[in-house]
Amino acid sequence: MLRFYRFIFCATLLYVGSADDAKLNNKKFPKNFLFGASTSAFQIEGAWNLDGKTESTCDRAFSKQPSIVIDGSNATVACDSYHKYKEDVAILRDLGVDHYKFSLAWTRILPTGYANEINEAGVKYYKNLIRELKINQIQPMVVIYHNDLPQSLQDKGGFLSPLFPEWFANYSRVCFELFGDDVSYWLTINEPFEVCATASNSGPFVDGIDTYICALRLLTAHAAAWHVYDKEFRNKQKGKVAMALNGEWMEPASNSTEDINAAETRMQFIWGSFAHPLYYGDWPEIMKTRIAMRSKLEGFNQSRLPELTQEQINYIKGTNDFFAMNHYTTILVKAIEEPEISSPNSTADIGVFTYQRDDWLSSSLSWLKYVPWGMRKLLNWLKDEYFSPNIIITENGWADSTGQLDDDVRENYIKEYLSNTRDAMDEDGVNVMAYSVWSLMDNFEWISGYTAKFGMAYVDFNSPNRTRTRKNSSFYFEKVCKTHCLVEKCED
Ligand code: BGC
Repeated sequence: MLRFYRFIFCATLLYVGSADDAKLNNKKFPKNFLFGASTSAFQIEGAWNLDGKTESTCDRAFSKQPSIVIDGSNATVACDSYHKYKEDVAILRDLGVDHYKFSLAWTRILPTGYANEINEAGVKYYKNLIRELKINQIQPMVVIYHNDLPQSLQDKGGFLSPLFPEWFANYSRVCFELFGDDVSYWLTINEPFEVCATASNSGPFVDGIDTYICALRLLTAHAAAWHVYDKEFRNKQKGKVAMALNGEWMEPASNSTEDINAAETRMQFIWGSFAHPLYYGDWPEIMKTRIAMRSKLEGFNQSRLPELTQEQINYIKGTNDFFAMNHYTTILVKAIEEPEISSPNSTADIGVFTYQRDDWLSSSLSWLKYVPWGMRKLLNWLKDEYFSPNIIITENGWADSTGQLDDDVRENYIKEYLSNTRDAMDEDGVNVMAYSVWSLMDNFEWISGYTAKFGMAYVDFNSPNRTRTRKNSSFYFEKVCKTHCLVEKCED
């Protein structure tokens, strides 16, 4: 209830601050710029054990222990997209989007987790979805892995197993073979940083040690899938393959050199832990130095961060065909004294203090604040750091607790984050190719269950029909998709 009042209060504040069209970028987005929406399999499909699908780590963690979910809910039905995908595509069609970012459920396609047995019913579901998208001129942007590892593979060590990259590459090969003729953009692993940060939900995992083994396994798995695509499919299918990385913009808390360095350190640990190996082959220097220093003081005889061999460096470097980024919010970063040395801890490895300003508008999720200027700064940082890559914004969105149809805050959020994106393209020369709203519709928001609603369409989770109703923000976004313009009238 408290959260609800805060929402109303903040929304009022924002209305004053952001409904000013004169401050928005009024240049059209280029003709070939792609607008889209995103979802993920576990969060929308339901049908968790139908037609041959087996159990994933998410099914085990969320559906079997409702106590970890705020509202005690689960995703066994979710938006029921397994049965209602045509309705999802109808909304996408009405929005006029160019692409739809969705993920494949590994256990729907490969029930054993291994590539020895393909589940025809699962394949048919995704073929039907892709066909429906194509009929409506919407390109599929396909995520191979978004959080739902086969439980069978988790039981064999999951990300910590040295075999993980091979399992993932074999699964990816099946996906390329089955769907690749229709897919131009592949995303191998969604938010690998979060995957490793939350891996302890699914099994034994030691923070500060397994965290980095996990990162290396995911990087190797991604690279293995990229090499499979490169060798076996690229010539014929002509698609592109990337990891979808995520993070905040880290704003220094002050102009002091210490705070500026602290913010840069955190950028390198969060974005750089995956992007640096993908673009330079190795971990960022600051990660190597800090983790080695703390490991030594903790009594380890070598760094907890695995040292990459030249062979690993060559294998991983250059395997991101574009820069896919999920971005939602900004945090402030302050320098602190070196955290006390005790047991390994990945937060202490970064060694900074983070917070957000109280006067930043808060969503229904405490971490998600409304800070559109962070988008422009982040895009510039990525451009400077990773050789002006082609960037696809694969997720960006706003949550409320009500699911209200008059969702002005979400509309303003999309407007202002897009305006900052356009500024970065236009004034700073950042190569942004596409933008995707998270999310097409309200869905299962992990431990927040159905209490945090990100959708441009409302879903009635009390109705067996899971009725979808478009919110106001979706009508604004439709206008943007159709006109490529954020304001009433754009300069040509
Ligand atoms: C994840 C989604 C999630 C969204 C909002 C993204 O980081 O990929 O699965 O629902 O954030 O929290």
